[in-house]
Amino acid sequence: MSKITVQDFLRKKEDRKKITMLTAYAYPFARIVDEAGIDGILVGDSLGMVVQGLENTLPVTMDEMIYHTKMVSRAVNNAIVIGDMPFMSYQAGIEDAVRNAGRFLKEAGASAVKLEGGAEVVAQIKAMTRSDIPVMAHIGLTPQSIHRMGGYKVQGKTEEAAKRLLQEAHMVEEAGAFSLLLEAIPMKLAKRITRELSIPTIGIGAGPFCDGQVLVLHDVIGMFERFVPKFVKRYANLKEEALKAIKNYREEVEKGVFPAEEQSFK
Ligand code: KIV
Repeated sequence: MSKITVQDFLRKKEDRKKITMLTAYAYPFARIVDEAGIDGILVGDSLGMVVQGLENTLPVTMDEMIYHTKMVSRAVNNAIVIGDMPFMSYQAGIEDAVRNAGRFLKEAGASAVKLEGGAEVVAQIKAMTRSDIPVMAHIGLTPQSIHRMGGYKVQGKTEEAAKRLLQEAHMVEEAGAFSLLLEAIPMKLAKRITRELSIPTIGIGAGPFCDGQVLVLHDVIGMFERFVPKFVKRYANLKEEALKAIKNYREEVEKGVFPAEEQSFK
């Protein structure tokens, strides 16, 4: 299998084939996600919550994102690696945005970046695209706007809000984004956006009509317990498995069962 590119994302939409994405943040799980044949790995700033134990994604830094993206890139043979631009790495200005986005490609081995926002980041998307940095846009529930939104709430529920999101979807496409992530919006709205855009939509909590789906890996494998959004489907409970194994180890050490002769040198 050859490396997935942004052109493959576009081709999959044209061919009506679903695009699969998951997040990953370090070498071991990135290898597994890649081996499973997932098209795209997002090194999401969600790592702030599921890896660093933070309350929200706002404190995550560019240097931390670069560190994690490097580990993921090293693990991956086929999936496209997309680096997520953290809070304040692109909001303050276009120069900042291009320089920070460029770091994902230049230092961390990513092939594209993702940023949150609609109308307010059109200039950044244009400038990055002009610099040959493929951009995935992200509208709907944008976790970096948690203080403005007053929590992690479904967006685009009123007619006016839905109209605004539809307009913003067109704006980011015209600005040059190669795909659009739709988070926590009604499925009817996601269906309309998906139908009207020529770039692929990737949904998380946006229903089944998007061109592809993404979830946070730790939600999928049962490694994040603090809260489970309605849109998550848990496919495994690795926390339970790990807990069982570690308790087993502790008991065997305490009882003198481990190490046995086969784990010892003569
Ligand atoms: O940071 C992240 O993991 C995201 C999710 C929406 C996939 O942006």
